[in-house]
Amino acid sequence: MCGIFAYLNYLTPKSRLEVLDLLVTGLKRLEYRGYDSTGVAIDSPDSKNIVMVKRTGKVKVLEDAIKEHFSGGEYSEPVMTHIGIAHTRWATHGVPCERNSHPHRSDEGNGFVVVHNGIITNYNDVKTFLAKRGYEFESDTDTEVFAKLVHHLWKTHPTYSFRELVEQAILQVEGAFAIAVKSKHFPGECVASRRSSPLLVAIKTKSRLATDHIPILYGKDDKKQTSDQDTDSGKPQVLPRSDSTSEFMPEEKEVEYFFASDASAVIEHTNRVIYLEDDDVAAVRDGTLSIHRLKKSLDDPHAREITTLKMEIQQIMKGNYDYFMQKEIFEQPDSVVNTMRGRVRFDGNAIVLGGIKDYIPEIKRCRRLMLIGCGTSYHSAVATRQLLEELTELPVIVELASDFLDRNTPIFRDDVCFFISQSGETADTLMALRYCKQRGALIVGITNTVGSSICRESHCGVHINAGPEIGVASTKAYTSQFISLVMFALVMSEDRLSLQQRRLEILQALSNLADQIRKVLKLDSKVQELAKDLYQHKSLLIMGRGYNFATCLEGALKVKELTYMHSEGIMAGELKHGPLALVDDSMPVLMIVLRDPVYVKCMNALQQVTSRKGCPVIICEEGDEETKAFSSRHLEIPRTVDCLQGILTVIPMQLLSYHIAVLRGCDVDCPRNLAKSVTVE
Ligand code: M6R
Repeated sequence: MCGIFAYLNYLTPKSRLEVLDLLVTGLKRLEYRGYDSTGVAIDSPDSKNIVMVKRTGKVKVLEDAIKEHFSGGEYSEPVMTHIGIAHTRWATHGVPCERNSHPHRSDEGNGFVVVHNGIITNYNDVKTFLAKRGYEFESDTDTEVFAKLVHHLWKTHPTYSFRELVEQAILQVEGAFAIAVKSKHFPGECVASRRSSPLLVAIKTKSRLATDHIPILYGKDDKKQTSDQDTDSGKPQVLPRSDSTSEFMPEEKEVEYFFASDASAVIEHTNRVIYLEDDDVAAVRDGTLSIHRLKKSLDDPHAREITTLKMEIQQIMKGNYDYFMQKEIFEQPDSVVNTMRGRVRFDGNAIVLGGIKDYIPEIKRCRRLMLIGCGTSYHSAVATRQLLEELTELPVIVELASDFLDRNTPIFRDDVCFFISQSGETADTLMALRYCKQRGALIVGITNTVGSSICRESHCGVHINAGPEIGVASTKAYTSQFISLVMFALVMSEDRLSLQQRRLEILQALSNLADQIRKVLKLDSKVQELAKDLYQHKSLLIMGRGYNFATCLEGALKVKELTYMHSEGIMAGELKHGPLALVDDSMPVLMIVLRDPVYVKCMNALQQVTSRKGCPVIICEEGDEETKAFSSRHLEIPRTVDCLQGILTVIPMQLLSYHIAVLRGCDVDCPRNLAKSVTVE
């Protein structure tokens, strides 16, 4: 999805070239979110105007254009205070092109320029309103109306501050957004806000910040409503002005602020961040940051916390790997350990999940467990459902968030709903969370992103601690989500005597997991050879059942999104109900056949395939000669307990999709049309 990055230096001399460099680096850190065009806006050398550069394609293209455009010495003069805004766009309204790229401007004089993530759903109404007042639109985007609306308000309300103008504009728009606005009429100021799309403010000062929170300010409720002279019925109304006087000021004068869609864009500058909440308006004026609320609500806290990020810059760098995805696949021996760290005590066979421990008695009394997510996160629910049913002895329902929202699914106060999301910002999952929360269910978040919306809106939860995942294709987050849900199942069965043997078996297997993953990763070159056989084909069928059905779905998703090849994950039990018709000597098939309770059934499926002249690649257990005899192509994985097999079988699938993508010349980290964090429904 779109990425926002803005940088404000106050009494901290920086040349415009340095600012541009910072902006471009910020955008590079956000590249993984997925985008198709880019843009920046800074002050002109005389500070009387705003200059913008926009390009279709990669940040590198923008970087080259910037080098060309800003070569003059005037751009290397240091300026004490300046604000630059930048953006990566993932097209929703209008094709990717320079005209539709952000920043968008309010008028030919570039009075106000805006970067935006999300969708303004009532943009047509606002556009009609503004068009009647003489505004001409130059893009097909929803964002442009926001810039022009601010301009209109500025003309009609000349006494309003920058923040008030933006606040008034926000009150007129509907939908989801994160925005950052810059204006030549308010030099050195920046106003940013969010509703359902992520946005944070990071603070950099020379010495340690003396406070760990920023008070929240509200508009005065007793102010009379000011009506807009221009307003037609059904058109934007100007609501009461907020008129706060108290503000937060850093101890020292020199300060730098960063506004960004996520922490990976700021971590190399500072680890002090404030995650904005929906309807927060953050404004910087004279180096002072203030956070305002658009509407007062009884359960609002009085301050926003300044969080210290734990992330390290190395975690978001590629290191010696060619791609982030490749790095993240190979990180799994460590990331699975990090998920268990401090939670699983192998010596005492005990598990404590700090984020949900107080809720366990309530969860044990629930009517059913619902696991809700999208894409890979949904697959982690499919992968662990069987174990959750076994160890919790509760009904377990798995739902795709989008489908769940399409139905009026009954939800009860005694339901426990798990929302699984790497980013913690997926719009469908977040909407489903809000739906269940309104109906009184207990909300458990399973996320990788501390401070994300799903984290904050859950009653309790588990951070999967996989570390930042940059590649659009989810890999290490899947295995860590898987383990988090397994740990939850183990916690739920702690006092069940009849399940102790089973629990010990699983705990034992968890303790060996990192080494076994290392062993599976050694298959890399063999998988690469296999990729050479497969990459020119049009399709790949992946079959399995039981604990490995989720691997089939996840493997097929990885192949589709990375290689643009058709791929289908097939429940082996369904083969004779249709998919078998696809099988012949030319159809590539991969089958997972492990020594578990469904082994005999899987062997039946294998025979059905080979007797139709299919020549499947088999994923089987090390040394299983009987199974290997059915095909000349196999990948052997170490033996583990049945319910954890899915962690070991998914890794060859991740490697395979990666190698096929490389061979087909696809963009591994940013597959076409996709975004890392899907913040629109
Ligand atoms: O951030 P989330 O886990 O909520 O994202 C859900 C899906 O968009 C995500 O898993 C997607 O399917 C991945 N690109 C798959 O690799």
